[in-house]
Amino acid sequence: MARNDQHAMKVYGDIKLYAGTGSPELAQKIADYVKAPLCGRDIIQFPNENLFVKLHSSARGQDVYVIQTTSSPVHRNLMELLILLQTLKLDSAGRITAVIPYLAYARSDKKDQPRVPITARLVADMIEVAGADRYILIDPHAGQVQGFFSIPGDVLTGFYLISDYLRSRRSEMKDPVVVTVDLGFAKKGRNVAANIEAPIAFIEKRRVANDAKAQALTVIGEVENRDVILVDDEIDTGGSIVQAVNLVKERGARNVYVVCVHPVFSANAVDRLAALPVKQFITTDTVPIPAEKQILLKDRLTVISVSALIGEVILRAHQGRSVGEMFNE
Ligand code: R5P
Repeated sequence: MARNDQHAMKVYGDIKLYAGTGSPELAQKIADYVKAPLCGRDIIQFPNENLFVKLHSSARGQDVYVIQTTSSPVHRNLMELLILLQTLKLDSAGRITAVIPYLAYARSDKKDQPRVPITARLVADMIEVAGADRYILIDPHAGQVQGFFSIPGDVLTGFYLISDYLRSRRSEMKDPVVVTVDLGFAKKGRNVAANIEAPIAFIEKRRVANDAKAQALTVIGEVENRDVILVDDEIDTGGSIVQAVNLVKERGARNVYVVCVHPVFSANAVDRLAALPVKQFITTDTVPIPAEKQILLKDRLTVISVSALIGEVILRAHQGRSVGEMFNE
């Protein structure tokens, strides 16, 4: 009788963590925080590039978290995530949460010209259809991405961690000002500025084509003789940040700090960043940065781990506790 009562109170089974191959170091750090091992699974790519997944043990009835970032190689990582989710669903896992530190295609979030897709919506649909009951995301490009899912989820931000770090360095800075790389980032930029008690300025940026080229136009606000903290959600090709750094330097900025949550660093972005007059690049590990790219930025690169943030949210989700109270909300 006592055994049945105990069982009845437990809605889901134990925490089971699985990881794709997208960000093994981050997955291990999350596992260390949660104090649960990464469960064994095989992920095999056949000669025809089709993927095959096999779990080493049963996940039946368990509270499962699949950790997979969807940065490069984007389509392989995305398919691994989807196949892992389906495998767990078919294995009768109790509840499945897709933990996606970086969500690919999040920038395709609206039909802003004729005859184009909203691929972020498609990706959300695929994650649900594959078997996710919940999701955890970090700073998806736009808030509306949450609305593309009809399952519940936790949308987290890396900017509290980054703001804490900036606060710890604030005494070294002279008259710091937070500058957003585009107007679309104004609201999040304002939060960072408020957190470190600095004023805010904005760059007006206009994309002129679909080919990843951007054009920075002007700075709205004061940067002259100030230390500038340039903030953006992600650095992809580096085009936006190169223009932003050059612009604030032309306008008389002193030291420049570059901040982003997702270091996508595609193509030759890191070479371009390395050539910039930037004192420090501050980012997180939502996207792994290969060693050969880290070396180019040397000690100017600071990577803050989001593992404790994600790990704590996993524990709270498992225990049915508030996530908002972590941020005094
Ligand atoms: C765009 O709206 C984003 O906030 C980033 O500014 C963009 O992803 C950066 O891309 P890139 O580094 O290729 O300029």
